[in-house]
Amino acid sequence: MRILVTGGAGFLGSHLCDALIGEGHSVLCADNLLTGRMENLTQLAHDKRFEFLQQDICLPFDPGKVDYIFDFASPASPFDYLKHGIETLQVGSAGTINCLELAKKYHAKFLLASTSECYGDPLEHPQKETYWGHVNPVGPRSVYDEAKRFAEAATMAYHRYHHVDTRIVRIFNTYGPRLPINDGRVISNLIRQALRGEPLTIYGDGLQTRSFCYVSDEVSGILALSRANEHLPTNVGNPSEFSILECAQAVLKVTGSTSIVKFEPLPQDDPKQRRPDITKARTLLGWEPKIDLHTGLELSLEYFRSAVESASVQTRK
Ligand SMILES: NC(=O)c1ccc[n+]([C@@H]2O[C@H](COP(=O)([O-])OP(=O)(O)OC[C@H]3O[C@@H](n4cnc5c(N)ncnc54)[C@H](O)[C@@H]3O)[C@@H](O)[C@H]2O)c1
Repeated sequence: MRILVTGGAGFLGSHLCDALIGEGHSVLCADNLLTGRMENLTQLAHDKRFEFLQQDICLPFDPGKVDYIFDFASPASPFDYLKHGIETLQVGSAGTINCLELAKKYHAKFLLASTSECYGDPLEHPQKETYWGHVNPVGPRSVYDEAKRFAEAATMAYHRYHHVDTRIVRIFNTYGPRLPINDGRVISNLIRQALRGEPLTIYGDGLQTRSFCYVSDEVSGILALSRANEHLPTNVGNPSEFSILECAQAVLKVTGSTSIVKFEPLPQDDPKQRRPDITKARTLLGWEPKIDLHTGLELSLEYFRSAVESASVQTRK
């Protein structure tokens, strides 16, 4: 297949490009490099089946016939989407509609990268796909949450009105190599601080929980969904739940750091608990994550060490 991956220069999109090339497909990555980096694609630069198109997908574009579209373009870390609020709203709305129009034109299948943020600060635990969420529509995080909820609605509308063959994955916190060290996500923050010997920042009392999925597990779940005949949203994430404090302890153990922990106020609308119910993915796709937090941190350590080292070399220059 010739596959379009929007946002393919980002953390998850680049791992998805690798996996699709590994399966023998041709991949066209369209990315405006707002939060992505060309260095995430270095390993594909000389592969004849890989093309890169620097493109803002909010503007109409036509890459020619494609068979599948994976729509992954969007700032994803709170740091990025709060900095680029309007762009986040635009890419979730105009960007997704442009991709759906392409899917309609070329009879391509379409998969939307949605998010657990659609559940907001949830009142149901763990979150099933049938839960409609508890989202503040006007809070600071609404630029991301509502953009993704709109993108899901648009995807279902193109499926219902135009019979586009669509899928929606609700991705829960994913981590691994290529996660930028300064993007404010929990794992990157904690590992960066631990490797630098700085205090680990915990927001609130650290008892709020998260679940973390290693990137290879996430990508294999997304690929399994891409082959399934399911149009309503499907959660793909790791259901093992850790408090942020437990996560900090795991990071200290894996890095061997002696950093202390410091507490700061909780940001507005920060969810207290987030954990996927993956019954649907288990039964429908026969998928479940294989890599636990400790192993995933170990697998990520070499990348984070070199990213922290090259950032400090840049600062010294
Ligand atoms: N990583 C996670 O834990 C996670 C969790 C839930 C959902 N997701 C979703 O997965 C997708 C990828 O997330 P990520 O973690 O790789 O983020 P990322 O910021 O690393 O990647 C996003 C990519 O989209 C590109 N992009 C942004 N706006 C664009 C535009 N208008 N036109 C073209 N390209 C544009 C960026 O340059 C970047 O390369 C996002 O849609 C995100 O919402 C990720």
